[in-house]
Amino acid sequence: MSVMMTNLGDVKLANRGKVRDIYDLGDELLFVATDRISAFDWVLPNSIPDRGKILNSMSVFWFNFTKDIIDNHLITDDFNSYPDELKPYRDQLEGRSMIVKKAKRIDIECIARGYIIGSGYKDYLKIKPENGKVNLHGNLLPEGLKTADKLPEPIFTPSTKADSGHDENISIEKTSELLGQELTEQLKEMTIAIYKKAADYALTKGIIIADTKFEFGFLDNKLILIDEILSPDSSRFWPAETYKPGENPSSYDKQFVRDYLAGCDWDKNSEPPKLPDEIVNKTLEKYKEAHRKLVGKDID
Ligand SMILES: Nc1ncnc2c1ncn2[C@@H]1O[C@H](COP(=O)(O)OP(=O)(O)O)[C@@H](O)[C@H]1O
Ligand SMILES: [Mg+2]
Repeated sequence: MSVMMTNLGDVKLANRGKVRDIYDLGDELLFVATDRISAFDWVLPNSIPDRGKILNSMSVFWFNFTKDIIDNHLITDDFNSYPDELKPYRDQLEGRSMIVKKAKRIDIECIARGYIIGSGYKDYLKIKPENGKVNLHGNLLPEGLKTADKLPEPIFTPSTKADSGHDENISIEKTSELLGQELTEQLKEMTIAIYKKAADYALTKGIIIADTKFEFGFLDNKLILIDEILSPDSSRFWPAETYKPGENPSSYDKQFVRDYLAGCDWDKNSEPPKLPDEIVNKTLEKYKEAHRKLVGKDID
């Protein structure tokens, strides 16, 4: 069953994001990954059936994979152990949801970049090099990098978490002013350590994780990893096979969708058109392939 939007009766809806529906269970949150998909900042009218299950399963995999570095908010993704009030909603929840600990969120997006692309590259190009180095928000990078170049070392580029509008990249120094130097250092260290471990592993499976975003929070005064992690929605996944520095890499998962939307007569300022079945199916195949490569199995 494809789930475009959940409806859990009296269970309290806390947030409906572009992709996830989040419910408030008191001390815990229920995260449901629907089959919605967004492109060019629009939620598309189609679902990609089972996409939510794939995203949910990837996050669970990565939470387990990284918990030796830092604890995270995941309590369970096993529907059979969910509280009774959720029992009537097996169809909507099983395999695409998780219960997590509610944390006090730190309002900074912690971005790790192993490759220079997107807003990071845009910012980089604006900065005047000094002594052969470009100071990108507190990271010293060599001058003359081309788009999609691999960085000598992964860097930490935080951004503000804007409730509305676009997030803004800020320097490590500015982050220290907001959060204090000690916490900033800790976030930087964690962000890079998690990214490195995941990116090294993904590369052995033929996937480059070019960059990714983490969110952290406090639970009983302890720093933990929250939100979703290392999915194609929070990261740039590139096929390693076709990667070429200096060229704009194709998106692992959304390329067919983007190509279709860019090639039709949609103006990107109004409701997007419906995707043809062929695009939906090809896109779903890419998600399944990424899941198979990374998690090592198909979703049930
Ligand atoms: N364990 C947690 N405790 C509290 N808030 C969390 C936790 N995990 C994630 N969040 C927050 O829940 C929200 C999830 O919304 P999301 O589905 O990402 O939609 P959007 O970001 O588009 O609003 C985000 O604001 C995120 O920071
Ligand atoms: Mg979010």
